[in-house]
Amino acid sequence: MRDEIEITDDLSSDLLAWYDDHAREMPWRVGPDARKSGQRPNPYHVWLSEVMLQQTTVAAVRDYFIKFIHLWPRIEDLAAAEDADVMAAWAGLGYYARARNLLKCARVVTDQHAGIFPTTEEALLTLPGIGPYTAAAIAAIAFDRRAVVMDGNVERVMARLFAVETPLPHAKPELKSHAAALTPAPRAGDYAQAVMDLGATICTSRSPACGICPIMALCAARKVGIAAELPRKDPKQPKPTRIGHIYLAFQPNGAVLVEQRPEAGLLGGMLGFITSPWVAVDDPATPITKAPAPPLKGDWRDTCQEVRHTFTHFHLRLRVHLCYASENATPQQGYFLPRARFRVADMPTVMRKAFDLCRIDKELAS
Ligand code: ADE
Repeated sequence: MRDEIEITDDLSSDLLAWYDDHAREMPWRVGPDARKSGQRPNPYHVWLSEVMLQQTTVAAVRDYFIKFIHLWPRIEDLAAAEDADVMAAWAGLGYYARARNLLKCARVVTDQHAGIFPTTEEALLTLPGIGPYTAAAIAAIAFDRRAVVMDGNVERVMARLFAVETPLPHAKPELKSHAAALTPAPRAGDYAQAVMDLGATICTSRSPACGICPIMALCAARKVGIAAELPRKDPKQPKPTRIGHIYLAFQPNGAVLVEQRPEAGLLGGMLGFITSPWVAVDDPATPITKAPAPPLKGDWRDTCQEVRHTFTHFHLRLRVHLCYASENATPQQGYFLPRARFRVADMPTVMRKAFDLCRIDKELAS
């Protein structure tokens, strides 16, 4: 273990000087120059971007952020939005509980805090969907509070800087205490973003660009030549597999059979095609057979094809069934959505995959 005090001041000033020249541009970010000239980030933008960035890359979030700000320019606008519209705008970003909590949080901030975000980590933590990472990120970035912002990038930078050999996730408390010791009080928001940018662009997981790193001279892992090996990780448990069936039905007028999925559970609150329950199997290659009764009486065709999608905790395989239903067909589950109101982009990715598969199937058949 090295003496933290010794490197604290050098490190934050070197990192901030690097950030002044190399900060990445992001639509929600107030860059270092603008900050120095007094501009402050919009807490609504910071919160929205940080919720979107949980488990998702900056590149994937950019367009969603712009869309949300365009549709709902102020937190009060988001709070007043229809749930289904927000879920549809979120479709494709994944982790849909984030979108449900986003709405809850917008409503609490609007109704109970007059549309103004609290500024401390402690108070932010009481809001729906705001955990330790997001509370620290908002406190630091929006309000320049000295908060310790820990994400995967920051963990990697700390593991290397201090040559921490303990594998993740056990190393987390140790990495956090290093990060806490290094976090400066002045320019806390810029510093938090500087460490994240460094992790995303230079101190990357597979091939760190140590030669151009602004804090190379202070890095213990670099000195002993093990930067690329850190952080060590406990071996991953293989993900289990679940299987099931998915049913796509179209009427001659183009209407599509859909349902609003129940709030609780996976893809909760999202628009989707109807599926059977998803059943866990021991063997990931288990054939998908025994289709239960479809959600509508009609001439169903088993496409004999599957869509696959991986969630955080499991792989999903769904066998796709297709029906060209009559105009007056009445489903036992779900409802027919008129073609003009159906947008596959409003659905989660696994549903889009099934739709694309049927579309290809239809083109091949015609
Ligand atoms: N990742 C998550 N939030 C970030 C931010 N504000 N800047 C850079 N990377 C991030």
